[in-house]
Amino acid sequence: MDPANPIRLISYTNDPSCLKAETLNGFFEGWVQKPTPEQHLEILRNSAACWLALDGSRCVGFINAISDGFFYATVPLLEVIPEYRGKGIGTELIRRMRQSFEGFYGMDLICDENLAPFYEKRGFFRAVGMIWRNDGFGGGVQTPTD
Ligand SMILES: CC(C)(COP(=O)(O)OP(=O)(O)OC[C@H]1O[C@@H](n2cnc3c(N)ncnc32)[C@H](O)[C@@H]1OP(=O)(O)O)[C@@H](O)C(=O)NCCC(=O)NCCS
Repeated sequence: MDPANPIRLISYTNDPSCLKAETLNGFFEGWVQKPTPEQHLEILRNSAACWLALDGSRCVGFINAISDGFFYATVPLLEVIPEYRGKGIGTELIRRMRQSFEGFYGMDLICDENLAPFYEKRGFFRAVGMIWRNDGFGGGVQTPTD
């Protein structure tokens, strides 16, 4: 094992109550205005479901979903912090979220073109997506292209 890059055991939980806002650092890469860690925690708590990847008490990846409870779910956010990417964490978060909504009619998400193959390999298929964004949103959440 490379002592500079020790292999750490990643654990997964769907309970955001174990998190403190200060453990949510390094997310929303490339966003013009990022949600604060406190807002990020609020997003996770208010979601119908979320899965977190933890390295000790540090959150290194997350996925969240919004849902009506029995029919449909949509995934607004999935992110793994850069130094933990390419280790299967994103794949595991998607797998767990799909399992959380097993039996539902559908689960949708919007992604950039470059990530479409990533999702296709994990069971999603392409469709046309339409989005609306509030450029004046006071919470500071904006798309990277705004
Ligand atoms: C996309 C993301 C969640 C993947 O997490 P991860 O833990 O690295 O994923 P895994 O290790 O399970 O799998 C790595 C796969 O992601 C692909 N990938 C990662 N970043 C990519 C990018 N920018 N463009 C295309 N593919 C990408 C890799 O090519 C690899 O694909 P393969 O396994 O099908 O060959 C992570 O790269 C990330 O957080 N990116 C920034 C935020 C983002 O784009 N989120 C998705 C919003 S829709």
